[in-house]
Amino acid sequence: MEKLYKEQEILDYLKISRTTLWRLKSKGLPTIKVGKANRYKIEDVNHWVANETLPFYAVPEKKIRPKEEQIINKYKINFEYLLNHNNKYLDKILSGKEKQVLTETLKDINTKNFENQDYVLTFSKVYLSIIKTRYQNNTKPDSYNPKINSAINKNINDIKIIWGNSLNVLKQIKTESIQLMVTSPPYYNARAYSQWENINLYLDDMKKIIRESYRVLDNHRVWVWNVGDIFDNDRLYTNSVWGKRRIPLGAYFIKIFEEEGFEFVDDIIWDKGSVESKRHMNNGNNIPFYQYPFNSYEHILIFHKHRLDKTRIPCPVCGSLKVNGNTQSEIGVQSWECKNEKCFVRSPNNRGKRFSLRTNMMQYYHGNDSRNAIDNYIIKKWQKDIVKINPVIKINSNGKNILGHSAPFPKDIPEMAIKYFTYINENVLDPFAGSFTTPIVARKLGRNGIGIELNKKLYRKAIIERVISELNGDHFIEFDAL
Ligand SMILES: C[S@@+](CC[C@H](N)C(=O)[O-])C[C@H]1O[C@@H](n2cnc3c(N)ncnc32)[C@H](O)[C@@H]1O
Ligand SMILES: [Zn+2]
Repeated sequence: MEKLYKEQEILDYLKISRTTLWRLKSKGLPTIKVGKANRYKIEDVNHWVANETLPFYAVPEKKIRPKEEQIINKYKINFEYLLNHNNKYLDKILSGKEKQVLTETLKDINTKNFENQDYVLTFSKVYLSIIKTRYQNNTKPDSYNPKINSAINKNINDIKIIWGNSLNVLKQIKTESIQLMVTSPPYYNARAYSQWENINLYLDDMKKIIRESYRVLDNHRVWVWNVGDIFDNDRLYTNSVWGKRRIPLGAYFIKIFEEEGFEFVDDIIWDKGSVESKRHMNNGNNIPFYQYPFNSYEHILIFHKHRLDKTRIPCPVCGSLKVNGNTQSEIGVQSWECKNEKCFVRSPNNRGKRFSLRTNMMQYYHGNDSRNAIDNYIIKKWQKDIVKINPVIKINSNGKNILGHSAPFPKDIPEMAIKYFTYINENVLDPFAGSFTTPIVARKLGRNGIGIELNKKLYRKAIIERVISELNGDHFIEFDAL
């Protein structure tokens, strides 16, 4: 009969710890029960291990947990320690005044019940906010308007209605002060408010707005741009009916966003069902070249901003600025490796903690705040890049336009965007707010909802009515930016 290995024998054979053996068993390592004890057939074990590609097994145990770690974990971190430990770098990176701001801000923080992680996190946040303020000051637009910026950041329970031309307003807003932008832009030549002589002039204007939005959007953040490929006259050659054609706005905008420095990430198709259009009608001609499909989708384009920033950032684990610049983990995302030999964490192959501003944001800076959790039904709904949502019904049974606006988008779009790409309390801006769907949804989700709209005369009454009814009261402030 084949020999059955005892537990200690299998540990020696595989050169692993008891904990790892326990983990392997929970992953399905075959065992044989003999009474209460586990026994192992070496052939089965070898077979299983050979087919098992789990990284925790492939890596020798010792390297996962270096001996030093147990000793190191015993030391206590506080602000004084971090300031001393990082002194050399702080002197290099910060001006004297900035360093003073850092020291004094930290002094004022109530550190009751603080543990190592809290000190590291707070130190990092204060340090980063100083770096950021400097960047914001260095990139201040000529028409920077402190009034608008303080209004924007007032009471999060009020949505902000800014009347004005999007380009002008954006030029007054602080650099990288908005965490998400969502919109459906004005349609070219399709609605009452259209104002462009031809498609190229329209795209030129949009390009300027997109350029300015790149500055205003926070780094490593997202732009959600909902647009349909319309069937219309581009007015480049003629104004007559025969000049109508399919205008692939989605494709044009992707190119523009890329030219302005954004990364194109997704094109989610909003399946509107069979929307009203005469396009498919072939007058009974069931022969070639008379056939066109119903026009029934729009794009929801997702872009990322990744401005390469090589300013040293502290290790999220130990707070050390003794970090080496690695390659970029994505285009525009600077990645770092902790070189503090007393850091609490080493990677499985014994490298220092690797991180970037983006991973820190995703894994550390917002903690495990359950308010940021995304409901399962939303994740399910947006799992595929084709999503069916019925268009908004604007006309009630009496034929009255209940939203007072001809082109609102469904709440589903800002809802997804906000839950997917922001944390609670952050700033969400729609630069073509229309009936203010985006700011309303943002506020309902505990974010700061901000909207810019040009046509005060046309829409003000309907917008205010909608805001009051949706938010159960006058939870808004409005101001002219022109
Ligand atoms: C397609 S609608 C947005 C609809 C919105 N998503 C909603 O749910 O109601 C575009 C809006 O942009 C506005 N608009 C057009 N040009 C603008 C500009 N230069 N600055 C600000 N708003 C502008 C239009 O008045 C219109 O209300
Ligand atoms: Zn570290």
